[in-house]
Amino acid sequence: MSNLAQKRILLGITGGIAAYKSIELIRLLTKAGAEVQVVLTEGAKAFVTEMTLQAISGHPVRSTLLDPNAEAGMGHIELAKWADLILIAPASADFMARYAQGMANDLLSTLCLATESPVLLAPAMNQAMWRHPATQANAKLLTERGVLSIGPADGAQACGDIGPGRMSEPSEIFNAVNTHFQNTAVEQDLAGQHWVITAGPTMEAIDPVRFISNHSSGKMGYALAAAAIARGAKVTLISGPVQISTPANANIINVKSADEMLAACQQSMSAQADVFIGAAAVADFKMKAACDQKMKKQSDTDEVTLTLVKNPDIIATLAQQKRARTIVGFAAETQNVIEYAKGKLAKKGLDIIVANDVSRSDIGFNQDENQVTVITKDKTWSPDKAAKSELANQLVEFIQQHIKLSS
Ligand code: C5P
Repeated sequence: MSNLAQKRILLGITGGIAAYKSIELIRLLTKAGAEVQVVLTEGAKAFVTEMTLQAISGHPVRSTLLDPNAEAGMGHIELAKWADLILIAPASADFMARYAQGMANDLLSTLCLATESPVLLAPAMNQAMWRHPATQANAKLLTERGVLSIGPADGAQACGDIGPGRMSEPSEIFNAVNTHFQNTAVEQDLAGQHWVITAGPTMEAIDPVRFISNHSSGKMGYALAAAAIARGAKVTLISGPVQISTPANANIINVKSADEMLAACQQSMSAQADVFIGAAAVADFKMKAACDQKMKKQSDTDEVTLTLVKNPDIIATLAQQKRARTIVGFAAETQNVIEYAKGKLAKKGLDIIVANDVSRSDIGFNQDENQVTVITKDKTWSPDKAAKSELANQLVEFIQQHIKLSS
């Protein structure tokens, strides 16, 4: 049976162009067996119609707080109690600000105050609005209060801008809802543990417009973060630039270069963490001195020489500084996979290394599936090829067992 069967989801839609995507979201939720009650803010009515939402959800849409007819049916406090989850997609900057302030000046904000059920936000707004310190402070405050969130994603925006603020895709929001209900059934055996995970590529500037990077999608590291969160761990996810949504409840730190990634790791583990997983594909080299201005084409030569220097080895540095009790690395290799991985385990001072063959096109970089070999100083284990989300569950279990045996 689906995790969503008979789950009661109150879907709040606030004013933003991404509201049109919520129609698809309702379809996904109801198809999986959930009951969906839609609540619109005044702003949302400019983007989607009550008629459409009523037809798709199968329930009359609610929007006003002081509506005697609606209150005579299911009053707003009853409605707040009815919901197993309040999902707000899109969540506008204005709504997040009102929610963070504890305002109750329309039906949706009142329901958020009145509910004792979890609330999951899918923020959507212009990139400058999302980056504004006021919005960032509101998002942080809400997270600290236990409000869950998914996204926003990075990319092209309806207004023509490019940057963070796009609402996560309906399928990603659906997965987050599904994972949420799955998690509530999972034993919280990592509660009280702090896991720090790096993911994605690093981006090393050549000049203000060019950079050195790699094809890492971040999928494996993000899946590990979601798997550890599901079992109750507090997870800090330190990520290079990626195009995927942040797992609900992760404490995300976005970085670009390896130097920034190392600094963020050290800061996050100023008190020793329980587990550090280096799933990021860190660029081995950076410019000796990145150019302040855009490099010009030289008309008299066909060649250009860039002087590169080694980046810090983040995981080896953290292992040496004993920043985490258990340190897990990844080794992406194209040949002699196991042998090279064993060498890295010893050289970098790791407890566990996860080796994968990136010469295969069906697994690893940018793929949804992976096949790995997990190596410790006295054990080698090769789970079957699996979806990264499934493999992440198995790896988290392996790490947890390793901690138990070695403590
Ligand atoms: O690139 P390499 O194969 O050495 O990566 C092995 C492990 O070391 C990975 O876990 C990667 O995240 C980490 N690493 C790092 N800093 C680097 C290079 C790799 O933390 N500069």
